[in-house]
Amino acid sequence: MKRALITLLGAGALVGGVAVVADPKPDDAVEYRQGIMMALGWNVGPMGAMVKGDIPFDAGQFAFHAGRVAVLAPMALEGFPKSSAAAESHALPALWENYADFEERMKKLEESSAKLAEVARSGDEGAMKSQFGDTVKVCKGCHDEYQEEH
Ligand code: HEC
Repeated sequence: MKRALITLLGAGALVGGVAVVADPKPDDAVEYRQGIMMALGWNVGPMGAMVKGDIPFDAGQFAFHAGRVAVLAPMALEGFPKSSAAAESHALPALWENYADFEERMKKLEESSAKLAEVARSGDEGAMKSQFGDTVKVCKGCHDEYQEEH
């Protein structure tokens, strides 16, 4: 296991794709984070539709998307390096001025979505819907503060 991981990291280094990009170009960081955000939205969409009753509730599908969100959430923060503050994006200046709060909110998203994935594995519909509400509140709370309306 450990050996496989080391091999994997080595392969990543060869193609320049290790987990933490030391000094990404600001525009690359913007594209990356918008991609992660889009992927979050992509997976939150069907869960939201199930919670609202727009499509039938399917515990398996819900758990699938919840698992995706839990994997994506910890990948978001690295797309917001301070070096990208001046790059054109929908991030508000307040984000860079309150970076510790922003990081805190990302941490909350990580925790809430991990819990969502865990609850989803239990198949308890009520608990899934309730935890989903908690997770999207974290999305919205951060957007209200730090994402330009568009
Ligand atoms: C800690 C803050 C924070 C959290 C939490 C957060 N977002 Fe975002 N999100 C942002 C910011 C800032 C932007 C604007 C990024 C940019 O334009 O560079 C954004 C942009 C987006 C976009 C638009 C992407 C684009 O291409 O312009 C979507 C969709 C999105 N977020 C979905 C989500 C979903 C779904 C969640 C929760 C599962 C979430 N976000 C959680 C801060 C956050």
